[in-house]
Amino acid sequence: MDQTLKISKIREGTVIDHIPAGKAIKVLAILKIDEKGSQTVSVGIRVPSGRIGSKDVVKIEGRYLERFEVDKISLIAPEASISIVKNYEVVEKFRVDLPERVTGIIKCSNRNCITNSKEPVLSEFYVSSKKPLVLRCYYCERNMQEKDILNNL
Ligand code: CTP
Ligand code: ZN
Repeated sequence: MDQTLKISKIREGTVIDHIPAGKAIKVLAILKIDEKGSQTVSVGIRVPSGRIGSKDVVKIEGRYLERFEVDKISLIAPEASISIVKNYEVVEKFRVDLPERVTGIIKCSNRNCITNSKEPVLSEFYVSSKKPLVLRCYYCERNMQEKDILNNL
């Protein structure tokens, strides 16, 4: 008897795989998947996986991600892979990629930063360290640590 629990394949939609164990809930939050909504979503948390020991996986039926959503996911799951599924086949698959600059997706934690003023200036950060993740504000040079970033997505 096959005793492995498999998460069903999807027909059309997006699979976000190789998410660090425990981070799927954050991915759901980024994608605004909550108790409302109509899409079928499967979530595996701490699923055994050869490559990284254990991992999380999120499968969303009938949804394709926007660029800014992939960028947000890359901040918390830089090793994740995204597969686009059509008619049960993977038609496109890519690793998320931490961009060199993170524009317009997180808020600077410095209240006096110009990006938090009335000026129409988008937030912009440089990745100053990947592991642990540290982002530096282009305008005020405030460093944002991983936990500030997580609370901010
Ligand atoms: N998948 C799915 N539904 C489909 C096709 C694929 O949910 N109709 C999922 C698979 O379960 C896997 C991911 O999409 O999590 C990538 O599929 P595929 O490339 O076929 O799997 P693997 O070769 O096992 O990929 P990897 O090495 O990235 O784990
Ligand atoms: Zn700033």
